[in-house]
Amino acid sequence: MAKQKIIYICSNCGAKSPKWLGRCNSCNEWNTFEEETESINKNVNRGLIQNQEEDNKPKLLNDIQTEKEKRIDTKSAEFNRVLGGGLVSGSIVLVGGEPGIGKSTLALQLALKLNDAKILYVSGEESLLQIKMRAERIGTVGERCFFLSATSMERITKIILKFKPDLLIIDSIQTLNTETVESSAGSITQIRECANILLNYAKKTNTPIIIIGHINKEGNIAGPKVLEHVVDTVLQFEGDNNHLYRILRATKNRFGSTSEIGIFEMRQNGLREVSNPSEMLLSENKEDISGVSIAASIEGIRPFLIEIQSLVSSAAYGTPQRTATGFNLRRLSMLLAVLEKRAGFRLSTKDVFLNIAGGLKVDDPATDLSVICSVLSSDLDMAIPKNFCFAGEVSLSGEIRPVTRLVQRISEAQKLGFKKIFISKFTKGIDIDKYKIKIETAAKVEDVFRKIFSE
Ligand code: TYD
Ligand code: MG
Repeated sequence: MAKQKIIYICSNCGAKSPKWLGRCNSCNEWNTFEEETESINKNVNRGLIQNQEEDNKPKLLNDIQTEKEKRIDTKSAEFNRVLGGGLVSGSIVLVGGEPGIGKSTLALQLALKLNDAKILYVSGEESLLQIKMRAERIGTVGERCFFLSATSMERITKIILKFKPDLLIIDSIQTLNTETVESSAGSITQIRECANILLNYAKKTNTPIIIIGHINKEGNIAGPKVLEHVVDTVLQFEGDNNHLYRILRATKNRFGSTSEIGIFEMRQNGLREVSNPSEMLLSENKEDISGVSIAASIEGIRPFLIEIQSLVSSAAYGTPQRTATGFNLRRLSMLLAVLEKRAGFRLSTKDVFLNIAGGLKVDDPATDLSVICSVLSSDLDMAIPKNFCFAGEVSLSGEIRPVTRLVQRISEAQKLGFKKIFISKFTKGIDIDKYKIKIETAAKVEDVFRKIFSE
């Protein structure tokens, strides 16, 4: 008979406590303790995949055999890019995202495209019929992709040990449950236990596993951070539900960089890869509208031209509102203060709304100058010509500072047919006359405004 015990677990860091605590002692977060019944069922063969003969002797680095990690080409350029060049054998990739964002679609599409590997797609959320309907919508028939609808970890392990897939996909970790612990599916202990079993399997058999996980309202993968520690790669699939574009971003990657992003568009027949990101970020609008400005930004190693839109209006009620979508609100407040103090614009009584087109979140300081110009353009109700773009960081003194990888930004702007780009006067090593696009330099924000609005 299993022994039952009530314990409390921190949903942020996974710390355990026999009593409920308002604040976690190990991660200092408030209100994160959740009650769980912990019972370790000793009769069940824990983990099922037992360690075989393990080599217990410590080794010198020189004695460790190295081979270049084997990577599986996923046939999706965007997915490969985010992973750092394909799926590494024996690695676990966690794909997190809000419900309905397209995680299952992404995983299914990958599975159906990969014809040279035997794939097992385990779904605990959808029936086989539902998966078939989805696959028909996507319109690809996977020749070596097998499906299983299951939630019991014990059943899944039994099947995978016999079936030996080259790639295992689990949709989703929150639906799995194991008999080794008695709490309900989706609870922290269950998630951790199941993840450990999968980890064990991946490392022992060198099989890559893609695990889908839901995220909670704070944007973390539901369940403790422990899950993120266990896996090799954490990918976030994000984007607005109202937008069609989706961004896949690595937040942890043991086998590659975390600065790469992959971009997809949700279509009627599945996700399409977007290889030229500027296409999605610049709206089709041909007219000049006030409040719109274009920033030559870089995400990962790719240059992007993104459209920044703002609306400045007199505050209808006492306190002015400041709202930013896709941009850091604190940074916006700072830039507004710079405009107020250094350039003399009265914005403290105005509402300011800022939006990055396409549902993208940017966090590149080079977009500062464009944000400032967009706010001012809306405030003055004067449009910035559509073929102008900006790349500059703005300091607290109102000075425009040089940015990284400027050559790439300028080349991208030129390629997309922009006529003028504004950069910092303090930039070194750029041969202004070499480019077809006109490069304007400015030292202070006022200089830029004068150059744009006095023409
Ligand atoms: P889904 O992959 O089920 O999301 P998740 O697994 O992250 O919860 O994606 C569901 C959404 O995508 C759903 O609202 C319908 C839409 N969708 C399309 O627009 N086109 C398609 O071809 C497919 C399969 C889904
Ligand atoms: Mg799903």
